[in-house]
Amino acid sequence: MMNRETIIVLDFGGQYNQLIARRVRECNVYAEVRPYTMTLDEIKEINPKGIIFTGGPNSVYLETSPSYSKEIFNLGIPVMGICYGSQLMAHLLGGKVATAPVSEYGSTATEILEENSKLFKGVKKDPTVWMSHTDYIAEVPEGFKITAKTKDCPVAAMENEERKLYATQFHPEVMHTEQGQDMLRNFVIDVCGCSGSWKMDSFVESTIKELREKIGNGRVLLALSGGVDSSVAAALLAKAVGKQLTCVFVDHGLLRKDEGDQVEEIFGEKGKFDLNFIRVNAAERYYKKLEGVTEPEKKRKIIGEEFIRVFEEESIKIGEVDFLAQGTIYPDVIESGLGKSATIKSHHNVGGLPEDVRFKEIVEPLRMLFKDEVRRAGLELGLPEYLVFRQPFPGPGLGIRIVGEVTAEKVKIVQDADAIYREEIDKAYDAGLMKAKPNQYFAALSNMRSVGVMGDFRTYDYAVVLRAVNTSDFMTADCTEIPFEVLQKVMNRIINEVKGVNRVMYDLTSKPPGTIELE
Ligand code: XMP
Repeated sequence: MMNRETIIVLDFGGQYNQLIARRVRECNVYAEVRPYTMTLDEIKEINPKGIIFTGGPNSVYLETSPSYSKEIFNLGIPVMGICYGSQLMAHLLGGKVATAPVSEYGSTATEILEENSKLFKGVKKDPTVWMSHTDYIAEVPEGFKITAKTKDCPVAAMENEERKLYATQFHPEVMHTEQGQDMLRNFVIDVCGCSGSWKMDSFVESTIKELREKIGNGRVLLALSGGVDSSVAAALLAKAVGKQLTCVFVDHGLLRKDEGDQVEEIFGEKGKFDLNFIRVNAAERYYKKLEGVTEPEKKRKIIGEEFIRVFEEESIKIGEVDFLAQGTIYPDVIESGLGKSATIKSHHNVGGLPEDVRFKEIVEPLRMLFKDEVRRAGLELGLPEYLVFRQPFPGPGLGIRIVGEVTAEKVKIVQDADAIYREEIDKAYDAGLMKAKPNQYFAALSNMRSVGVMGDFRTYDYAVVLRAVNTSDFMTADCTEIPFEVLQKVMNRIINEVKGVNRVMYDLTSKPPGTIELE
């Protein structure tokens, strides 16, 4: 870890800190977000090639605002300050920061004043940049020169080339800043001298090595859900310590069609990974618990609690282990508070893991990876594409895609309808009928039964609901415009092939007011 070329992104509470690390990694340079509370000694130990101060919501001149020892500028390590970070640099080095007469928010025209600035190499003279500030640098510290300005911001960028200190009031990491990526690349490659040789395969290799060192002869237990994160974690650990790893896969009978068997195919005895795989077929047990339960929250709770129980029973059989492994990924770490250990990421996002599972330490091999990096590592480790690129699937599974009571019969209906729908969407996409696949698409089962006619018989069957949304963050979403002929084909196939369904509906609701799942 220590000899890897690293950029430390020192977090002062800004909303784009993840993005900064992300952009640095896009330059093939490893970056880590660390809290501003990390000590100077910790920084020295990592010996980073460069440090980036992030933005933050505070005013640097207030006593209570996050700050840092100005010794950091004397380590000889290049530092770049962004937004709050730029103001902090100015403030700590004797410049002046004040409330700006005019705040700037959003896309803003800039003028680069120093064409020879290393930071702006190859950048046009007047890039549009993304601003978001109420304070500004009123006076630069001694030894600094102003390298860019805007109409209302006299110091849009400043630098002290000799000391390798750079600062931008704007956010180069966001897409709205023209050539922002070039500026960050200039900093990490040209100023910091990084080689730009960090790659996912070196991640996989070095992580396997680190895991071997950490785990030694110890035993590791992992709750495998069949989702991307826990699968990639399992594959990595299997490559690192083989049979010292035991994966417990709880099949709750609420997975998509054939998914349980697929997980077994990959990780079970016939698969290519060397590990102990335990599949617990707990479907009956779950259905029993869910009998008569209609309220969504209650269903989620039961599914989560039951998982804990099953996992606990299995782990008691296994006995004491040394490590509990988890597929925690970087956004989980950031969400749960920087610097603290990530809260236990449970298989079901509800309930957490059992207290009675005895282990000494947690291992989280994916802790520093973003989702698409996890996917790349998965491919690198030889996991099949259908698994690596699978859609988001809720931990409580089909339990929350069946409105009302969950029964074995309803699970079968929704599994079959969903498989047809996904197959037809994939076909339509391959045939060029859709430009892109929706970000999430699935079938759910409404609780409505209604009268129909099939042949000479009247039926009284369920209505399947098709859902498809476009979304980038899953916080808001729009219904996808699926070609009518595709919807019709799906409807035809579901009615003909899935027993118990006599009606198919398409859900047009956006989020808000709806949610993506239909529970
Ligand atoms: P909603 O329905 O809240 O879904 O709009 C947003 C995204 O989150 C997924 N989702 C879950 N994922 N456990 C999960 O791991 C859950 O309990 C859960 N509930 C919703 C949903 O599939 C969508 O991608």
